[in-house]
Amino acid sequence: MTARISDHVDGRRLWRDLIELAGFGATDRGGVCRLALSQEEIDARAALVAWGREFGLHAAVDPAANLFLRLEGLEPELPPLLLGSHIDTQPTGGKFDGAYGVVAGLAALRAIAASGLRPRRSIEVVAWMNEEGSRFAPGMMGSAVFTGKRRLEDIAAVRDKGGCSVREELDRVLDNERDLQQRPLGFPVAGHLEAHIEQGPLLEAEGRTIGVVTGIGGKRTFRVVVQGQAAHAGTSRRAERRDALVSAVAMVDALQRAIWDEADTVRFTIGMFSVEPNAPSVVPARVTFSVDLRHDSDEVVRTLGDKVSVVCQSARGKCDVTVTPLLYDPPLEFPAAIRARVRDAAARLGLSQQDLPSPAGHDSRYLHYFCPTGMLFIPCKGGISHSEDESITPSDAEAGVRVLADVAFELAGQA
Ligand code: GLV
Ligand code: MN
Ligand code: MN
Repeated sequence: MTARISDHVDGRRLWRDLIELAGFGATDRGGVCRLALSQEEIDARAALVAWGREFGLHAAVDPAANLFLRLEGLEPELPPLLLGSHIDTQPTGGKFDGAYGVVAGLAALRAIAASGLRPRRSIEVVAWMNEEGSRFAPGMMGSAVFTGKRRLEDIAAVRDKGGCSVREELDRVLDNERDLQQRPLGFPVAGHLEAHIEQGPLLEAEGRTIGVVTGIGGKRTFRVVVQGQAAHAGTSRRAERRDALVSAVAMVDALQRAIWDEADTVRFTIGMFSVEPNAPSVVPARVTFSVDLRHDSDEVVRTLGDKVSVVCQSARGKCDVTVTPLLYDPPLEFPAAIRARVRDAAARLGLSQQDLPSPAGHDSRYLHYFCPTGMLFIPCKGGISHSEDESITPSDAEAGVRVLADVAFELAGQA
């Protein structure tokens, strides 16, 4: 019979780590602002390394600043199993998006260590670099580079709003972690498991504890730049203006109408909108805004995504517009075998569960094309996420770790 690693999960320590990690970048309103590659994230990474070292984990980092904490298996030469998520947050992030998966991974390894059993394969917790894509777009950079989806040179050139590049910030993080073991990108791995808060309302509404994630929905993102001309607010006549804000607002309105669906299944968001020079007495010269479009049908994502540029061009008025596609990720389904293991482990523990898809994106998307990958969800209050109000319960957090720990130990025992 498979050993019950879950009996050794320390729920108190799990909660303590979650709350302590949330202290790095804590906001006044109870949330977390820990942007990718920021000083807050550097400090949080150091805490994770210290917590792992307490029970013998070895820390390593790769050139994309993905951070690995390794529990050595009985056969260390075998490719390890990864338990990954992220610890960067949105600017108004909560305590648990991403952080839960990393801390849950650590708690699962702590339970294995406490059991006195050793897995056949090594198991590593991974904090993937820049999942959120809020400071540097698009997101999931670390997992994309690790799995060969994107090139390190390409992401290194991306800059944040302040002009700071991924390259500069990677150098800062890697310099801070120069005493850690250095790993190559894309080393062979046996599988990837990610625990995450649901970020939606279904588990809570159904009163279930564990979500067996069936797959991840499709997503396309774009950057739209509207170029007009700066002019004096007091002297320039309306007929002569090339007001970038007026054109951008027309585009936003036209996009809302073109992408609107009666069934309310399309997710369409303009979450970033910036006006330059953003001065009260200057006609706006330039507007940059983001488009985030999601649906679980590839055809819908493609068709609606193809409209973005056409609609923006038709609403541009006297301004110029450039629409740059940033990301296209089709919907995917996780392998049935891993989903069955999550389902069975939850059933053995007597936890209620249901299958459900993930409309939110995760690093597991890119790992899916690289190695056998699966995800499990725990409920979050009101389905609220990417918000300082994000909330979970200690008992759900512990339940998720119990499932994760048992599945991880099982998978790490596989040939
Ligand atoms: C991930 O944070 C997403 O935006 O889906
Ligand atoms: Mn996340
Ligand atoms: Mn997120």
